[in-house]
Amino acid sequence: MTETQTRPEPAALRGEPKVLKVALLGCGTVGSQVARILLEDADALAARAGARLTLAGIAVRNPDATRDVELPRELFTADAEGLIDGADLVIELMGGIEPARTLILRAVRNGASVVTGNKALLAQEGPALFEEADKNNAELSFEAAVAGAIPIIRPIRESLSGDRITRVLGIVNGTTNYILDQMDSTGAAFADALAEAQRLGYAEADPTADVEGHDAAAKAALLATLAFHTPVSLDDVRCQGIAQVTAEDIAAAKDSGLVIKLLAIAELVSVGEGGTEGRGGEGVSVRVHPTLLPREHPLSAVRGAFNAVFVEAENAGELMFYGAGAGGRPTASAVMGDLVSTARRVVAGAPGRTDTATRVLPIVGVDAVTTSYSIGLEVADQPGVLARVAAVFAEHGVSIEAMRQTIDGGVPGNGNGRAELRFVTHRASEKALAETVADIKNLDVVESVTSVLRVEGV
Ligand code: NDP
Ligand code: HSE
Repeated sequence: MTETQTRPEPAALRGEPKVLKVALLGCGTVGSQVARILLEDADALAARAGARLTLAGIAVRNPDATRDVELPRELFTADAEGLIDGADLVIELMGGIEPARTLILRAVRNGASVVTGNKALLAQEGPALFEEADKNNAELSFEAAVAGAIPIIRPIRESLSGDRITRVLGIVNGTTNYILDQMDSTGAAFADALAEAQRLGYAEADPTADVEGHDAAAKAALLATLAFHTPVSLDDVRCQGIAQVTAEDIAAAKDSGLVIKLLAIAELVSVGEGGTEGRGGEGVSVRVHPTLLPREHPLSAVRGAFNAVFVEAENAGELMFYGAGAGGRPTASAVMGDLVSTARRVVAGAPGRTDTATRVLPIVGVDAVTTSYSIGLEVADQPGVLARVAAVFAEHGVSIEAMRQTIDGGVPGNGNGRAELRFVTHRASEKALAETVADIKNLDVVESVTSVLRVEGV
């Protein structure tokens, strides 16, 4: 048996540790967990950061409110500005645009680096905030802003910085993934699945930001900015939510071996001469919409309220990042990762990492993006109907890949019954597809267009 040997202490633990004062803005779902970790794990964090991270105070609206976590009352204040002015590092977990924007600006102008989870603010004001942080040699980190606990910002920003990312597909909203998964696994209608998501605390009392895709769109803008090194704001993201997805859409998808997911899709697309290969004519397309995926696609396996981001890069190939996209403890983990890494940089006296975009690519319009589509129609069950519908596809140059017909009542072919037609197209531009659908709607034999969904990964 060998004797246990005393090993030298890591360099970070030698000598008097530095002290960095941390101001926490917000003590809700995420902030309360960040405060807990800062207090409970102080020694381990000091060893990893090379500095003691002292929680100097917590700014909230109501300092006397009861919190999810028991925390010393004397830490709380309503004076966010006073707290920021004495801090080395600031964590912003208030959410919303103001006063978060003004407070972050105040912190970086003081030279303090900031960690935030505020995707809504970054998607709207990111470039101005990053520029101000750069000017003041401060850092603005935001791992928690996209997909909660999942490390995705750092891999895109650092690990893949020597590669060329061409596409990012993400399930970045847990509430909508839960709702669609419930609809898929139980056959529930959208309203019932939403009510269940609210009962379980996934969806807010006002679920608009999740259900309409706005939360996913903010995250898509951030992912695209980092992946393609070009500014992308919320206004650049085309967005469609899941409120129109019906139990019939889900059932039809299932019958075809597909699943419906709300995807955030950011991709480099070819514009004009040169194309993405020549790199002379690149543009960026960023969109959020319900999407049909083959059941064997890795993103189809993402169930419940989980998130995942699928990255395609020229040299790395396909990568997938999976985990909890929300919740106090998981999101606090991402915040703490940013905090420790920022503290290390401050201790080393290294300059702030610059995040301003290195180029400005055009945001491409509907014409430049092609996708396959699934289109559902209710039609009269009469001779010649299919030919008339097919002729409209042909007129607009949209090629049909597959078609299914379901007869519903009446004597087949006699004109007194209805049929449901579902077409899947080859890749077509959104413009051509929209014109096709508009003309199909005008056919007297078509009762309604029941769904238009994009298909990926086939
Ligand atoms: P909460 O609503 O639970 O908490 C917000 C906190 O900020 C509260 O403590 C509130 O104070 C304080 N606050 C809000 N406005 C002000 C103000 N004007 N002045 C002072 N204090 C204020 O938010 P979350 O913890 O859920 O989210 C925080 C951030 O993290 C958001 O940007 C969110 O998008 C992001 N995020 C959240 C995730 C989650 O799972 N919750 C996941 C990923 C990111 P008081 O308590 O006194 O009202
Ligand atoms: N509301 C978001 C979701 C979590 O459902 O994923 C915060 O980004």
